[in-house]
Amino acid sequence: MALMEIYVAGNPVLRKETEKVTTFDKKLGKLLDNMAATMYHADGCGLAGPQVGIAKKLLVIDAFDDKGIREFINPEIVEHSGDIVSTEGCLSVPDYEGEVRRASEVIVEYQDRKGAKKELKAEGLLAIALQHEIDHLNGVLFIDKAISIKPKVKED
Ligand code: CO
Repeated sequence: MALMEIYVAGNPVLRKETEKVTTFDKKLGKLLDNMAATMYHADGCGLAGPQVGIAKKLLVIDAFDDKGIREFINPEIVEHSGDIVSTEGCLSVPDYEGEVRRASEVIVEYQDRKGAKKELKAEGLLAIALQHEIDHLNGVLFIDKAISIKPKVKED
């Protein structure tokens, strides 16, 4: 596995339109493995393609549950309900955090690394992370929709 460079706000790749993934091959699996390694190395709980310079619809999430790493290819929110405000950060906005209002429950359709179609109902941190990461696929950062933003307190 190899670590990838994480691009930060200001880099145009974060604002670019992303393309659907159409080839489900070993190369895609390797890319997803590298994205997961990069996310864990940077201490994040989610990472989307544009953040590592890949303008494609794919992302990884670890919502601190028993499932570990989750991969979502071509994800789409097909239903959402409820309302929740929580504090979010982003590996591409390393110096700030902010309060963001999101749906508290989402249903997402996506494909796995083999191209199989899946559906997932998510709530809590997983639902928030999915909305945050899917925003990345549309060139949107949490700072675009945050209710309030403040500098992150650095931990030693
Ligand atoms: Co982010």
